[in-house]
Amino acid sequence: MIVEPAPAKLNLALHVRARRDDGYHELETLFVFVRDGDTVRLTPGTRDGFAIVGPFAAGLSGEGDNLVTRARDAFRGAFGAGQPLSIVLDKHLPVASGIGGGSADAAATLRGMAQIAGIAPDERELMAIAAALGSDVPACLAGRTMIGRGRGERLTPVEIPALPVLLVNPGVAVSTAAVFAAWDRTDRGPLPQGNALAIALGGRNDLEPPARALAPAIDTVLAMLGDARGVRLARMSGSGATCFALFDRAEDCAAAAQAVRMARPDWWCLETALA
Ligand code: C5P
Repeated sequence: MIVEPAPAKLNLALHVRARRDDGYHELETLFVFVRDGDTVRLTPGTRDGFAIVGPFAAGLSGEGDNLVTRARDAFRGAFGAGQPLSIVLDKHLPVASGIGGGSADAAATLRGMAQIAGIAPDERELMAIAAALGSDVPACLAGRTMIGRGRGERLTPVEIPALPVLLVNPGVAVSTAAVFAAWDRTDRGPLPQGNALAIALGGRNDLEPPARALAPAIDTVLAMLGDARGVRLARMSGSGATCFALFDRAEDCAAAAQAVRMARPDWWCLETALA
């Protein structure tokens, strides 16, 4: 059995530059990954199976069209059927929440199947399959800190320190397409120059205003995170609604997590670190 981690993705900065003719948006983003997330378990056997378990399984169950099975089928289309596979997705990340859960799961499926088939994870055809599955899937396949351009699929590696980070989601699912569609089409400029931390601190998330308009709970999350002791940066990730707070000290991250859990036991909260 192969157990592939599918860690949460964050966009420490996300600059939307233009709307393209194909309906997508040209963007510049700083992708990072954290230490925790979903897992995908793949067991070669005598017949195919797919099951979803874990705290957020209910949000996905009953969906015939899962990104994991789409990734499996796309891999087979490119590299051949191989052995039947039993796949179990252990879902710990909230669904439709700006931290790449589905993209991470698809990428983990591709990595696991590549390992079983003896295919290098940076094989070009695998990257092409990832890009066809979703804009964030190539970054999730690489699984390391990257600047993303284009739809997010043109990637350049960068380094970032393993800072403590707190992720908070107010339990509102947000449609990525709806948030992009509500962007005001104003180009506010490129990512700043400098190292990854400088890019994060000097950058923006241009999807924050449209997401906040669609899901006002994001305002409350950001206000709470912005007030935490020792916070370096509080911002929304992706198209939301999950927001993150970066800290220098793990103690400050833990104290902020404790405060959020006390004030809002109904919110999802993950205390982790950049990977
Ligand atoms: O690529 P993915 O399927 O994850 O994107 C979901 C939706 O988000 C797209 O259908 C599109 O509306 C929007 N999107 C976009 N520009 C991007 C990435 C996503 O407009 N660069």
